[in-house]
Amino acid sequence: MNMLALVTGASSGIGRAFTRRLAGDGHDVIAVARRAERLEEVAAGFPGGRVRPFAADLATGEGVDAVARMCAAEPLDLLVNNAGVAHYMPLAELPEAKAREVVGVKVAAPTMLARAAVPGMVTRGGGTIVNVAGMLAFGGPDPAAQMGRAVYTGALAHLVAMSQTLAAELAGTGVRVQALCPGVVATEFHERQGMDLGGTPRMSAEDVVTACLRGLELGEVVCAPGVEDERLLRAVFDADLAAFGAQSPRLATRYVSRPGGPVPGRAGNGS
Ligand SMILES: NC(=O)c1ccc[n+]([C@@H]2O[C@H](COP(=O)([O-])OP(=O)(O)OC[C@H]3O[C@@H](n4cnc5c(N)ncnc54)[C@H](OP(=O)(O)O)[C@@H]3O)[C@@H](O)[C@H]2O)c1
Repeated sequence: MNMLALVTGASSGIGRAFTRRLAGDGHDVIAVARRAERLEEVAAGFPGGRVRPFAADLATGEGVDAVARMCAAEPLDLLVNNAGVAHYMPLAELPEAKAREVVGVKVAAPTMLARAAVPGMVTRGGGTIVNVAGMLAFGGPDPAAQMGRAVYTGALAHLVAMSQTLAAELAGTGVRVQALCPGVVATEFHERQGMDLGGTPRMSAEDVVTACLRGLELGEVVCAPGVEDERLLRAVFDADLAAFGAQSPRLATRYVSRPGGPVPGRAGNGS
């Protein structure tokens, strides 16, 4: 069956691979990114206007609004919230504009586009939203892996939590939601911020797309293309639920104040 998809970040990497895979399979794709000439190049590879370029800057309110209007107006079967930027840098050194850009593209845009697309999908009784997050969403306790990534990993964690919650909220409507969590992928992502990962083993963008589509068939809400043992992911979510379910309105014993205990705002020795 012919589908209509909207893919953000379609001018390179994972988004371009999604666009090519979907259009190659005969589906219609609205391809969104800033670099219009790149989108035209992708579109030129397919006949009959199957790929429709739409230039927009998702770091801006106007850009998000324009794409959101399209998500609401078009009978989308699939929304791929893929556009992304990272700006790895210690938070104290991260310029305000770059922090806003990461939050805009990776948090505000996918949230608002999903919000715009969901009502139509529910009315039509079906649809799919894929939010491209990443394995760094799970790397919080590893300071070495996360150095300089506070805003970016926070954004990925937002996408995972939003996808899980939205998937539950939409259960029974025919609308599926997936957080796609690749590890390191061979795209322009790192070189655009001056990093050379040429020597690092990386997954191909095409394999990430394959995992996403197969993960949807498997009913995965969190798809981790490079994690062989799926039980590891289930263990993460089981642990989340165990901690969540163990809370109580009573102050946990370790927080009960003691005479001579630590003064708020001062680093203690943890004893
Ligand atoms: N590569 C990895 O190792 C990796 C790992 C885990 C997750 N991811 C995620 O995968 C997604 C795709 O990244 P990629 O690896 O394919 O990198 P990429 O090759 O750099 O592609 C990023 C895409 O996002 C678009 N984009 C960036 N800022 C935008 C903006 N303000 N408005 C509209 N589009 C914008 C870019 O298009 P324009 O510049 O033309 O606007 C480009 O098409 C990202 O969300 C990233 O967080 C990547």
